[in-house]
Amino acid sequence: MNIAPKCWAIIPAAGIGERVGSHIPKQYIQIAGKTILEHAVSCFFQNSRINGIIFALHAHDEYFSQLDIKSSRIKVDTVIGGATRAQSVLNALNYLKNDLHADDFVLVHDAARPCLTNADLEKLIDVCFANKVGGILAAPMRDTIKQVDGKLISNTVDRDNIWRAFTPQMFKFEILRGAIKKAMQDDVQITDEASALEYVGLTPAVINGNVHNIKVTTQEDIFLVEMLIQSKDNS
Ligand code: CTP
Ligand code: MG
Repeated sequence: MNIAPKCWAIIPAAGIGERVGSHIPKQYIQIAGKTILEHAVSCFFQNSRINGIIFALHAHDEYFSQLDIKSSRIKVDTVIGGATRAQSVLNALNYLKNDLHADDFVLVHDAARPCLTNADLEKLIDVCFANKVGGILAAPMRDTIKQVDGKLISNTVDRDNIWRAFTPQMFKFEILRGAIKKAMQDDVQITDEASALEYVGLTPAVINGNVHNIKVTTQEDIFLVEMLIQSKDNS
């Protein structure tokens, strides 16, 4: 019997948003009546191939329990995150160990990335179901890239093969868990899931995604996502 693999979303939401500098963590800032975190997960709730969503939260999170995040179809769960994003993701993966088979899929998506589209999520799942390693949403670099020494340009980097990595990043459950554990054991810094797979010698795919899928990192990004979300609401 060929049972369809399960798909769980993991939402690292345990950061404090230091660079935005708001009095609340950036994922809980409200835009158009909903928090950034709620915007970030809305596509997962609408996708029939997603079975569950697990949020990694800060140990002292005071905000998540006040949100109305539930669904009759999709399981929702939480876990305490760690000191780094990678540790938060690993905590969620470890928590899912009893529920997921090695070949089930996880899609890791930043709580601070509120402009994911349904079309991009569908495209990512289609490609990753069909390949062996998994992949990530990303976009080719459009700007000329400069290497800078102090404040002086030392070199122009060939941007032909340079892409910007977004989330979600979708991988088979045990491949990702093993890769993150190995990178951490070896004290290698990983800033996204793909870099953990790269570290263990695997080659994730890039899936060309919408450039509006930005991560809120500074206050400037808040203005940008406000405009993007409001223009989507009005269309
Ligand atoms: N994150 C997490 N656990 C951490 C750090 C970050 O789950 N220990 C999450 C954040 O909540 C965010 C995502 O990972 O959804 C991307 O991280 P980043 O943009 O760096 O968010 P923060 O760490 O909150 O921001 P800053 O680095 O400015 O403090
Ligand atoms: Mg951070």
